[in-house]
Amino acid sequence: MKAFTSIIILIVAASMTLAIDPAEKKAQMMQIYSDCKASTNAKDDDIPKVMLDAKPTTHEGKCMFSCVMDKMGIITNGKLNQSGMLAWAESMSASTSIVDTVMTECGGLSDPDPCESATTIGLCFRNICKNSGMDMDW
Ligand SMILES: *[C@@H]1O[C@H](CO)[C@@H](O)[C@H](O)[C@H]1NC(C)=O
Repeated sequence: MKAFTSIIILIVAASMTLAIDPAEKKAQMMQIYSDCKASTNAKDDDIPKVMLDAKPTTHEGKCMFSCVMDKMGIITNGKLNQSGMLAWAESMSASTSIVDTVMTECGGLSDPDPCESATTIGLCFRNICKNSGMDMDW
């Protein structure tokens, strides 16, 4: 029993150092979406606009998008977070060169409203990921 438990712990520890598998990543994203929906009072309507290709249109929707980007580690305080993006790229098994592209293309964007700012940057980020062929199911 004890040996069995340590094997499980070893497996869990080992898998944490590897890239997260897509199903797990997706579940993690869904959790982020539902947490952010709750904390920003976004409506069910806002969710499809935040996910996939659409742009959030309501202020709540933008704040929710901002919250999602924040929880992913991509944006901190309305600004791109380079070290957070590097960690994210690693977890997606993506090339870290994408981070340089995002910094160059999206780093200069901003808006006085933090939700607007994060949304503008986040959409720019998402476009670059899509254009580079990453599977962005959100
Ligand atoms: C960037 O993100 C990391 C982890 O996601 C966090 O620890 C760090 O404080 C963030 N950097 C800034 C400048 O906020």
